[in-house]
Amino acid sequence: MDVAGIRMDNPLMVCSGVLGISAGLFSRIEAAHAGAVVTKSISLVPNKGYDNPTVTGVASGVINAMGLPNPGVDAFIEELGRSEVSMPIVVSIYGNDEGEFAELARRLSPHCSALELNLSCPHAGGLLAIGQDPNLVERVVRAAKEASNVPVLAKLTPNVADITKIGLAAQEGGADAICAINTVKAMAIDIYQKHPILSNIGGGLSGPAIKPIGVRAVWDLAGAIDIPIIGIGGIASWEDVVEYLYAGASAVQMGTALGMYDIDHITRIKDELDIFCASTELDYEGLCGIVRKRYP
Ligand SMILES: Cc1cc2nc3c(=O)[nH]c(=O)nc-3n(C[C@H](O)[C@H](O)[C@H](O)COP(=O)(O)O)c2cc1C
Repeated sequence: MDVAGIRMDNPLMVCSGVLGISAGLFSRIEAAHAGAVVTKSISLVPNKGYDNPTVTGVASGVINAMGLPNPGVDAFIEELGRSEVSMPIVVSIYGNDEGEFAELARRLSPHCSALELNLSCPHAGGLLAIGQDPNLVERVVRAAKEASNVPVLAKLTPNVADITKIGLAAQEGGADAICAINTVKAMAIDIYQKHPILSNIGGGLSGPAIKPIGVRAVWDLAGAIDIPIIGIGGIASWEDVVEYLYAGASAVQMGTALGMYDIDHITRIKDELDIFCASTELDYEGLCGIVRKRYP
């Protein structure tokens, strides 16, 4: 299948951040039959991220504030050179402004199948500000698009009043697809120690708890934009994948569930999805938007 110019064997992608920064992990993800992998978000200079604790479990999910730790673009290009996979690698990038996004896009596009712009991290202040402002989103997407020759995906935050306005801005800037959603702003307090659990205080909620928020975002975006949508948030089963595809997604990404189970959970979901497709006599593309199209 082809989603926004990315050729994948199936619609199951691994999302940014949860796995997938080393060449060895890319091989394991490919062996688990993922359609593609999105890397941890990469910045121009190395970033050590926040102090521990950076992740805490809550009902039906986790809250994280990692602080976008990554080795920086130079070291990461070397790591990409060690990769032996034929599965598409989508490199997630983040910067403070459109100049940094453009520089990252220029440096990384020769080494990947596509770029995903992280416009949406709820615990990295500047990024959330970019992702909540349609004008900034359009400018950043345009700058990245002009600096690269691979498909550019814009990853949106659910932490806005109307995600369709941001989606339309990304489309206007030239995005090839929209990825929705990143994590939902959240926090947790240790009532015995009387302080926030995460060192950064606030973080982002992921996992099954946010699936209905992601499905709603995809549904709303599918009614507003013309470019493909990649659905993200709380996917843990083949039924969750079908729900996102029915809402209008062309592919999906999953992360937290792979931590809850294991990387081979991708294989299990793919096998079950294939059985479902065979029973409906539809291919993956045939499932896209089935319910959404009934509600124009
Ligand atoms: C520990 C952790 C680290 C993450 N790091 C990133 C990141 O570097 N860049 C990014 O765009 N999203 C990042 N995310 C967000 C995920 O890519 C995804 O949008 C979110 O977790 C929802 O999907 P899920 O419920 O399947 O995990 C991270 C999520 C988690 C849990």
